[in-house]
Amino acid sequence: MLKIVVCVSGGGTNLQAILDALESGRITDTEILAVISNNPGAKALDRARDHGIPAICLSPKQYPDREAFNEAFTENLTELGPDLVVLAGFLVRIPPQMVARFSNRIINIHPSLIPSFCGVGYYGLKVHEKVLERGVKVTGATVHFVNEGMDEGPIIAQKAVEVEEGDTPEILQRRVMEQAEWILLPRAIDDIANKRIRVVDNVVRSCS
Ligand code: GRF
Repeated sequence: MLKIVVCVSGGGTNLQAILDALESGRITDTEILAVISNNPGAKALDRARDHGIPAICLSPKQYPDREAFNEAFTENLTELGPDLVVLAGFLVRIPPQMVARFSNRIINIHPSLIPSFCGVGYYGLKVHEKVLERGVKVTGATVHFVNEGMDEGPIIAQKAVEVEEGDTPEILQRRVMEQAEWILLPRAIDDIANKRIRVVDNVVRSCS
């Protein structure tokens, strides 16, 4: 049984996609131990509570400085004992000590085709604003392992999404969520739970 902790900051639509996939059997052999958010008002926490999953608020604002938060965040996760940490719309930088302790056991969903439109400052709606500004015709989403860089870890899966005439950032974000994020993240969790992928020399390979 793959035990996971899901980290969220906002609406939790990616968390909802995971919950729906667990219910429908598209994710097997997996259990959500807890959902953690830095945002006490995150709708994602309500989604967790609605499913009887422990909803924990852990924010840098609760600590005197970032290093104290980093230590507490890492210790809390270690105590929960997940096999995998899933960042689903989580907007807090992952502490280096957590990346080291959970090496190749943290995954993130990013709303672009990495290495395009990623890195510092590229999150949420800002990604889609930049995509439209640049005028690219295809965007998409990426699930990747988290390493010490920003959106630089080994890529697990990607899915392309057409940019359409008249798209606003909001319309494009929704299409990328529906056509890519909500498909890729549950599938990646199921692949990890069923040992279908492994990391070899920083590249994700299929085991099946
Ligand atoms: C989404 O754009 C996702 O790509 C990004 O965070 C945003 C909010 O996701 N990682 P959610 O609705 O909170 O899952």
